Amino acid sequence: MCGIVGCVLKDDDAAPVLLDSISKLEYRGYDSIGIATATGNTINLKKGAGKIAEVDAELDLADLPGNCGIAHVRWATHGDPSEINSHPHLDENNAIAVVHNGIIENYLAIKEELEKEGHEFKSDTDTEVIPHLLEKFVDEGCDLELALRKTIDIIHGAYAIAAISIKEPNKVVATRKDSPLIVGVGEKEYFVASDFPAILKYTNNIIYLEEGEIVTLTGDGITIKDSEDNILDKEVDVIDWSPEMAQKEGYDHFMIKEIHEQDIAIKNTLAEREIVKKIVDEIKDDINRVAFVACGTSYHASLTGKYLIETLAGIPTEVLLASEFKYSQKSLNDKTLVIFITQSGETADTLKALDVANETSKTLAIVNVAGSSATRKAQYVIQTQAGPEIGVAATKTYVSQLASIYLFAALLADNKELLEKLDKVPDYINEVLENEDKIKDISRKYRFARDFFYIGRGYSYPIALEGALKLKEITYIHGEGYAAGELKHGPIALIDDGIPVVAILPPGDDHKKTMSNLEEVQARGADVLGIGSYGDEDLITKAQDTFLINSEVDDIIAPLVYIVPLQILSYYVAVARDLDPDKPKNLAKCVTVE
Ligand code: M6R
Repeated sequence: MCGIVGCVLKDDDAAPVLLDSISKLEYRGYDSIGIATATGNTINLKKGAGKIAEVDAELDLADLPGNCGIAHVRWATHGDPSEINSHPHLDENNAIAVVHNGIIENYLAIKEELEKEGHEFKSDTDTEVIPHLLEKFVDEGCDLELALRKTIDIIHGAYAIAAISIKEPNKVVATRKDSPLIVGVGEKEYFVASDFPAILKYTNNIIYLEEGEIVTLTGDGITIKDSEDNILDKEVDVIDWSPEMAQKEGYDHFMIKEIHEQDIAIKNTLAEREIVKKIVDEIKDDINRVAFVACGTSYHASLTGKYLIETLAGIPTEVLLASEFKYSQKSLNDKTLVIFITQSGETADTLKALDVANETSKTLAIVNVAGSSATRKAQYVIQTQAGPEIGVAATKTYVSQLASIYLFAALLADNKELLEKLDKVPDYINEVLENEDKIKDISRKYRFARDFFYIGRGYSYPIALEGALKLKEITYIHGEGYAAGELKHGPIALIDDGIPVVAILPPGDDHKKTMSNLEEVQARGADVLGIGSYGDEDLITKAQDTFLINSEVDDIIAPLVYIVPLQILSYYVAVARDLDPDKPKNLAKCVTVE
């Protein structure tokens, strides 16, 4: 949901570094791009609507003078994606430039006031009030830092803001509230950025900025002040992600690279067993109910968690959509453990729910991004070890979330058999990846389909939901996941000649029942792709196409393995339709607005 970068370099021009850094955040928004630098009497600005490569080919974005500047990639909230609405935005005198991620809720009232005072606005954005407010306070005699402090006293909403001014040309000031912003401390370069990948090439030294703190970058270093204007001596964390982790390394897209990293992501996540055990030991005698809260793919991981915790540990468990949480949280109490699943740790809906749950219950966040807001708000944290995920569609972070949930549930239930099974999952995934071409071939057949259905029972039902979501997200083909037994209660009316139905059929007690559902849709003309196990002759004989998986993967651990061919299917259908799976239209990696 928009990415921002700001930097001051000791020796070099900032624009090439800003272009390189903001390109690493394109997964956060790809409607438009802009860069501004400050020199002497000028704000040097280039911006335009479109993906970075397109706008760069036209404008040569790196060709701007000055060793300090700001950059932005946009995911439009207010105003269509156009040059005029793209960031950076300027004040009236073209003396101050601002980039912003988030939403200013009271911008209309502020705009009205400023217009009465004679300010003229050019764009439809909420952001444009910020440079005008800064201008007003600078005109009253404030320096840029104080002007920013006064501005954040007025604006309401979620924001990460970075600003530059021609009056203080070697300086970037920045702040945040409910939107991520990290500070990078290099040897000859200082940064603010929405996320790590932007700065990994230059530094691994990070400072996490808390809400209301203001950071000032200059050629001499970094100063951070709290809301009372006290200078803070903040800890510098060293993050162990490498720049290569955020590069394609020979793959055509991040998505397929990240699908291939799922074995190692699970292995690394399962290696956190001691940390998970400590949390389980601390809370297990003190809870009688569990509630998962999440959005999107993380919600699907949570559904698997419900089956696991209820079946293995016998603890009543519910799953709530974070955006619906406030309408149904009333029965939480201090015996409830509320588990928040979020790869980014910055999803606004999830964070709002986390704040509420903290008031009554124990809270645990399962998060991929270290230092993100969820890790700082939750009482307990499990960090998944997927490494940076750049593709907008969650793949390796999803299986890592599942790995953490399985570990948690197995330890809670003291289920040694499940713990042993989990250790073999990376090998099973590798076997699936070795047969990638089989799915690639099948994907050609389906690339012009208009609708897809995915069916599964029990542990395979969330797989069906997640398979359908991946398809929708990156191929723009309509896909629905259904509990296999539910299909005949209505949706079967939609089944027609040639409609693809993906049936998820791991070995287990319910295999026969799902086979009957498969036959029901076939009888109405469906074209069935069965995802099952080697030796499943019934499936092999009946389905039009099959993809087979190691028969040791039973229905309980199926969610960790059976999702992989479905991710690959969506990927290759998207490629066959000439779409960019890394940057699906209308989506952003991290949704920081409610
Ligand atoms: O960062 P989070 O896990 O909180 O994100 C939640 C959803 O926005 C996310 O899973 C979304 O559904 C992705 N586009 C899935 O591919």
